[in-house]
Amino acid sequence: MPAGSPSSAQTFDVARIRRDFPILQRRVHGRPLVYLDNAATTQKPAAVVDRLARYYREENANIHRGVHALSVEATDAYDAARETVRRFLNAGDAREIVFVRGTTEAINLVAATWGRTHLGAGDEVVVTEMEHHSNIVPWQLACQAAGARLRVAPITDAGELRLDAFEQLLCPRTRVVAVNHVSNALGTVNPVKEIARRAHAHGAVVLVDGAQAVAHLPVDVRAIGCDFYAFSGHKVFGPTGVGALWGRAELLDAMPPYQGGGDMIRSVTFERTLYNELPYKFEAGTPNIAGAVGLASALDYVAAIGLDRIAAHEHELTSYGTDALSCIGGLRLTGTAPGKAGILAFVIDDIHPHDIGTILDRAGVAIRAGHHCCQPLMGRLGVPATARASLALYNTREDVDALAAALRDAKAVFA
Ligand code: ALA
Repeated sequence: MPAGSPSSAQTFDVARIRRDFPILQRRVHGRPLVYLDNAATTQKPAAVVDRLARYYREENANIHRGVHALSVEATDAYDAARETVRRFLNAGDAREIVFVRGTTEAINLVAATWGRTHLGAGDEVVVTEMEHHSNIVPWQLACQAAGARLRVAPITDAGELRLDAFEQLLCPRTRVVAVNHVSNALGTVNPVKEIARRAHAHGAVVLVDGAQAVAHLPVDVRAIGCDFYAFSGHKVFGPTGVGALWGRAELLDAMPPYQGGGDMIRSVTFERTLYNELPYKFEAGTPNIAGAVGLASALDYVAAIGLDRIAAHEHELTSYGTDALSCIGGLRLTGTAPGKAGILAFVIDDIHPHDIGTILDRAGVAIRAGHHCCQPLMGRLGVPATARASLALYNTREDVDALAAALRDAKAVFA
């Protein structure tokens, strides 16, 4: 990419972006906050905080039911948020966007409803060794209910999916392939387009867990060619408690509802209920209206900066961080797949990841330590836990330097 082009990393004004995030001005334990726990949750720009406040100050009402002006405004804002999500994912139709609580609920929705109607005894669901519990346990539940079997595609020591071994698992009994777009614990970016192509050749549907992708790289569900795509608002600078499921209309149409209640019906008698059209069939009860509106403002925020530029910035920072951490004696990075996203996960000889996290916290450096909701992956890596720094668009080389310095101090404490 030529230096100086509008989409080059050099034109990425991280100082200006940081000013958009009020919390980054905070101090923690008397030190400037260095926030490197973005895979757990991202911070919120003032635009999102203000949008939420404006919704509650000026627009709050329930949607769809009211005939009054506020209800119309709230409904318009909620509908516009759905259209924003559609545009963000390049989905073909806003009816294919279902607002949910987050990625976990999206996957549970598909596993429970598509699973209930399509999985039978002897069928197989394929996941990978690098899945988050939220893309394992819902499928285990669906398999248990149906008498189906969970198959697990292996990864390499670097943390890449072994495509050859994955392909060998696919067979006429494979009904679903469920895979993350970006691994939360390794940073691996999975070749989801190729995975979808191979899975479809065997007649399976493909669900992509996009929780760790949407804030870090451009997502185009039609280019990927998957059948379902799930993500959480709070991991893309939006509010907690809201996310979206995209699914192909023909699949969603054929699925039974997930929950029963208001709004998901067309008519109810004690004898029989007719369900509403898409997407309302899957949105029982009053939805998280403010959350959806706040999520839309977060998506507008990242779209205005440009996900290509965000990805370029984070890749540069990831390589800088990889070099910086590799110089620390006794530190081993877990997850070194080429082209990985901004996850720097590691273990250090003789220091428990939780101790690393606690010492770093005293230096104002926020990371996560633990199994990252990936216990099977930790087993594959042969570790009980890792320490994980995870990057986002507002992180800088100075943040990475602070991480490396705090790690050196931690080592000195344990020397
Ligand atoms: N799944 C989130 C993480 O990786 C919570 O930290």
